Amino acid sequence: MSQPSITDRLGDPETAREEGRRKMDWAMQHMPILQSLSGEFASEEPLDGEVVGMAMHVEAKTANLVELLAEGGAEVAITGCNPLSTHDDVSAALDAHPRITSYAERGVDDEQYYADIEAVIGHEPTITVDDGMDMVAAIHESFPELIDTIVGGCEETTTGVHRLRAMDADGELKYPVFAVNDTPMKTLFDNVHGTGESALATIAMTTNLSWASKTVVVAGYGYCGKGVAKKAAGQNANVVVTEVEPRRALEAHMEGYDVMPMADAAEVGDVFITTTGNRDVITREHFEVMQDGVLLANAGHFDVEVNLDHLSDMAVDQYEARDGVDAYELKDGRRLNVLAEGRLVNLAAPIALGHPVEVMDQSFGVQAVCVRELVEHGEEYGAGVHDVPDDLDREVAEIKLAAEGVEYDSLTDEQAEYMDSWDHGT
Ligand code: NAI
Repeated sequence: MSQPSITDRLGDPETAREEGRRKMDWAMQHMPILQSLSGEFASEEPLDGEVVGMAMHVEAKTANLVELLAEGGAEVAITGCNPLSTHDDVSAALDAHPRITSYAERGVDDEQYYADIEAVIGHEPTITVDDGMDMVAAIHESFPELIDTIVGGCEETTTGVHRLRAMDADGELKYPVFAVNDTPMKTLFDNVHGTGESALATIAMTTNLSWASKTVVVAGYGYCGKGVAKKAAGQNANVVVTEVEPRRALEAHMEGYDVMPMADAAEVGDVFITTTGNRDVITREHFEVMQDGVLLANAGHFDVEVNLDHLSDMAVDQYEARDGVDAYELKDGRRLNVLAEGRLVNLAAPIALGHPVEVMDQSFGVQAVCVRELVEHGEEYGAGVHDVPDDLDREVAEIKLAAEGVEYDSLTDEQAEYMDSWDHGT
């Protein structure tokens, strides 16, 4: 089915901008970290003179990060990092800002998706902020002449960091990039709680079905998989985990989940949620043994975890069963239901809102202080993937705890010395 054009979808552009702004304002009320940084960025303008090029999910929470960077003095150009995750009204609200250009549009085809990334690169960014590494890849492949003037970049997600580390290992990454994904303030909250809550909420809202008593197969027991498994169990589902890494499989087993190969899980699951960042996790052999009516959803970054080419080959009919649900009917009458075209369900389903605001406040707080760090100390980092300095991550945690009114202890001098010494014992 072809997408309506952006003009049809937006209707009156002014109304769309207002609606986008309303969504951003709602989110900002629940983003104490960005609020706190916004005071500092607006008064000190630490990013003055920089151009930030971004490829991220363009929705209300990200939009508040984009505005924060613009308030900090940067010119910002942004596009989406997934063709289905853009909220056009938010994109329109951002584009109205004098220092921001947004190229993001929901439902673009592959050609337009990459053309929009090139349009952002046309602003000649000095800093890149990516979710999945598509911007870094495009700069290295097609615009290497810009690399000398790029101070550095930040990467938001696990898949992007994996790709960057592979590129770095091959000696091909030519500027410094912070692995924002890998910080405690991001991974332990966004990947675990964010993906767990938003993937399950989106699946439930998209299908109007209950979790109670369902057998939910979670593929991959990494940060995202742990969150999905825990929250599904919390809603009275029976959780089955599939893994390829023995310690993670053991961890899932010790948490009390059933662990088994996908070939066996395929026979018993009612709902399948992939969170591996890998490809071909669910394929023809699995579709062959699944029950009628199963739900197939992906929460990993790319739409390659559930092999839809295999499923299309096997299907005798394919139709939209509900908004965001495509039914594939097989020769024997079984219907396998794919959510959000196999793209990351919590962002790409029609009603998807992405992660809860509070966790994105943390992730984007880390992004903002990393961009500031690149401007202030970028020359100290060589080309390659860098861990985010721990003091920056702590700074974001401290802002959040203060906003929540949570007090906590500090080490005494004696304790600090004890923890740092080796020559003590009984
Ligand atoms: P992770 O590396 O902690 O976990 C992935 C797990 O999948 C690993 O334990 C790995 O052993 C396992 N795995 C790999 N291939 C497998 C296979 N064929 N079968 C079963 N298990 C397999 O990564 P994390 O942080 O959990 O991220 C997973 C994916 O989710 C990435 O693509 C990441 O970019 C994406 N992500 C999505 C979010 C969302 O909003 N939906 C939010 C954050 C990350």
